[in-house]
Amino acid sequence: MERWQSALENRVEYNLSESGVHPLQLDELLDGDGTRLLKESLGYSQTNGTEELRRTIADMYVGANQENVLVTNGSSEAIFVATWSFLERGAEIAMMLPNYMQIWGLARTFQARVRPFWLRNQDGEWATDLRALEKGVGKRTRLIAVCNPNNPTGAIVGEDVVDEICRIAKKVRAWILSDEVYQGTELDGRTTPTFWGKYERVIVTNGLSKAYGLPGLRIGWLVSKKELVSKLWAYHDYTTIGPSALSDYLARKALQPEKRGKILARTRKILQANLPVLKSWVERHRDNFSFTPPSAGAIAFLRYLLKINSSELADRLVREKSTLIVPGDHFGMDGFVRIGYGPPEGYLTAGLDRIGDLLERLK
Ligand SMILES: Cc1ncc(COP(=O)(O)O)c(C=O)c1O
Repeated sequence: MERWQSALENRVEYNLSESGVHPLQLDELLDGDGTRLLKESLGYSQTNGTEELRRTIADMYVGANQENVLVTNGSSEAIFVATWSFLERGAEIAMMLPNYMQIWGLARTFQARVRPFWLRNQDGEWATDLRALEKGVGKRTRLIAVCNPNNPTGAIVGEDVVDEICRIAKKVRAWILSDEVYQGTELDGRTTPTFWGKYERVIVTNGLSKAYGLPGLRIGWLVSKKELVSKLWAYHDYTTIGPSALSDYLARKALQPEKRGKILARTRKILQANLPVLKSWVERHRDNFSFTPPSAGAIAFLRYLLKINSSELADRLVREKSTLIVPGDHFGMDGFVRIGYGPPEGYLTAGLDRIGDLLERLK
């Protein structure tokens, strides 16, 4: 998926493959005053994140302090170091699917075995198959990987399911790796429950790329027990050493409580304005789709009814309509497409029209 996106996203006229809202400009983050930024040193910054940034992040997690936090280059680095430290040949990982597939690919690299548990669409809702999870874990299970809110479905796993996953993890003493990068993008404004504080062996990953609309800063973090954070810091020495000083500075700005509130409100406003646009487009094409609207995130996962493979459909959209989406194949779910609805409204409408044109032609 990453290669599909990076090879094409700057070449198509309409990119609806993005999973976040359209990004902020530097100017908006600095409220028009960039003079301090010009005086920032371009040396190495504190490699696990400046104390101030780690304290600010820790304040978002009840009972955490700066020693529970490691700042990384994007949440993808946080996921990488955590997965790398836990998986070796023959180990097992239980993984929520569909999902952002980084962990899936890493597990293959480390010759670990993935035991999936699926989110299944039942009566128009995505429900976690907890029985499959319970059956799939055992003494070899090192990690249980979840993504909440979920990419690509936009579904939110509620508190009761979070508790159940913790109960199952506890039984086999597995660690939970909870990717919470879409937290803060809930359409109803109710923050998704974090796994932090629910169970001792938890690693939460998050970052500024989705809810904050700042993917270009490449700031992510993980929150866990002090001892594990200290161990993972050593892994981070071998990946990127540390975040860029400018990004650390800008992340501190973005996460100041008042600014943070404003940024999250901006994200929700975009999503709340754009989802009805997407819904009415789906309604106009209801012969082609069945659709469970997302509860969070700038992404919708649509089942289409035409008899065409999803990669072929996405490929034709690029070639014939210069429009990029993500085929369900990339999540192991042919018959679906992921459409990002976070761009400015006019752009979104024009991109959706292109998809509509092709679908009509294919009928
Ligand atoms: C669920 C999920 N986790 C992690 C990432 C990695 O994002 P970043 O490294 O920009 O934080 C993405 C990016 O699309 C994602 O969708």
